[in-house]
Amino acid sequence: MINTCLFPVAGYGSRFLPATKSIPKEMLPILTKPLIQYAVEEAMKAGCTAMAMVTSKYKKAIEDHFDTHTDIEQSIAGSSKEVLLEGIGRVIKSCTFTYTRQLEMKGLGHAILTGEPLVGNAPFAVLLPDDLCSNAGDTVLQQMTALHVRYPSHCIVAVEEIPPEETHKYGVVAVEPLVSESALFVVTEMVEKPEPQDAPSNLAIIGRYILTPEIFAILRETKPGKGGEIQITDALKQLAQQGKVLAYRFKGRRFDCGSVDGFVEATNFFYTQGKQNEI
Ligand code: G1P
Repeated sequence: MINTCLFPVAGYGSRFLPATKSIPKEMLPILTKPLIQYAVEEAMKAGCTAMAMVTSKYKKAIEDHFDTHTDIEQSIAGSSKEVLLEGIGRVIKSCTFTYTRQLEMKGLGHAILTGEPLVGNAPFAVLLPDDLCSNAGDTVLQQMTALHVRYPSHCIVAVEEIPPEETHKYGVVAVEPLVSESALFVVTEMVEKPEPQDAPSNLAIIGRYILTPEIFAILRETKPGKGGEIQITDALKQLAQQGKVLAYRFKGRRFDCGSVDGFVEATNFFYTQGKQNEI
């Protein structure tokens, strides 16, 4: 079982300025629920109870969200608004939250390595709240933790097909089929944000990972790659060379809420589905 989910949430969210000048981008709401709460609820549905967040000094609102707020709670007690805090109340009661700060913005790989003390020596999930996923059945992380039970010593990345001109936004993988599996592949090559002509395929990694703790030793040795940052894609590539990384083509829809277009698309989708309480 995967018990810990790591949320790298230290980034500035500069694509959403000025909104993100004083509000963490993870606190921007789709309808009435912030992205980070959707993310934590997805992790809970996958069986995680330990929520580990890699934050920065500008992200205090995230910690406050997963805490009590006595003034508001008392002022709406017994009124019709009480129900609005039930969901977050359940989350706070069912999970533990730990935080550590990433002092320098040196990439997703660096953020994950910063989270090592919160994770310990067991396989863990990584969930990027920008990638909001919705599925009528099991959530994407639930689908992946079920696979982890069958492939406990592999890392697993969620992938989806993207238009070839978008490869520069993602980690892109080359894969080989895995006998008797239709949506699961062995990763043979990984490239962080390649130009279309250099991309090994049009299968992009989206923000859901199951990682084994051996990734930390590799991350410690990983040199800065694309954009001068320490990339999780580069660290995983080393494990892929040993056949230890699987790519899972997940069931469900993914919205890139790190972009204004994706954010609006998600808002419309959740509004028309009447789904603000469900992922
Ligand atoms: C990160 C990863 C990238 C992955 C993407 C998924 O990029 O570096 O490999 O495809 O998340 O959203 P970012 O979006 O943080 O630039």
